[in-house]
Amino acid sequence: MPLLTIGHRGAKGHLAENTLPSFKKAVELGAQAVELDVHVCATGELVVLHDFTVDRTTNGSGEVHKLTLASLKALQVEGKYTLPTLDEVFEVLGKGVFVNIEMKGRHTAKPVADFIQRYITEKGYTYSDFIVSSFQREELEALHNISPDTPIGVLTQASVAQAMEWAAEFKAVAIHPHFSLLTESNIKKAKQAGYEIYTWTVNEPEDIARVKTLGVDGIITDYPDRL
Ligand code: G3P
Ligand code: CA
Repeated sequence: MPLLTIGHRGAKGHLAENTLPSFKKAVELGAQAVELDVHVCATGELVVLHDFTVDRTTNGSGEVHKLTLASLKALQVEGKYTLPTLDEVFEVLGKGVFVNIEMKGRHTAKPVADFIQRYITEKGYTYSDFIVSSFQREELEALHNISPDTPIGVLTQASVAQAMEWAAEFKAVAIHPHFSLLTESNIKKAKQAGYEIYTWTVNEPEDIARVKTLGVDGIITDYPDRL
């Protein structure tokens, strides 16, 4: 498989993270895939933003899971964008862009599994159009139990070995380690165990060159144009 360029929160290095223009920009810059973060809001919809609160990225305040979709939609990002739902991101991307959905919030596994099932049954997508990742053991376990066919990636900032243990437990297809954790030796072990390796968030040219040499399968970057 050729190396996948995965736009982090869209093209975070160029436009406001996790916004529709940022996702469009990532594809324009050559990304074949995008990464995004999801939470469930108070009215049950999957919304795309990174933090557990809206404070950093919008003109509002409060916890995402306590806000309704209508109140989230009334907020502004950088004075000109709105927070997208997961459906809106897929509408903008269209088919053919591989999407890494990170379950950032809590209790996201069921809504994410339902979302993917709906796209498969109603819109002609297949499981291979998605990979669902998380740092959170409970979310990964829940997703694996609810939807064993959904491709899982195990995120880690701490240990490739631990990510591989969880990957074995939840039949994941990939591990997603921070790039600083990667070595020739742990990459070899992960490959021998059959896992794809999607590493993040690799922005500097020398780091991009290093992880390319190590033979990862995908690079999650704020700057898809740098790959
Ligand atoms: O999925 C890779 C990366 O996005 C994980 O860290 O904090 O950017 O969500 P974070
Ligand atoms: Ca993320």
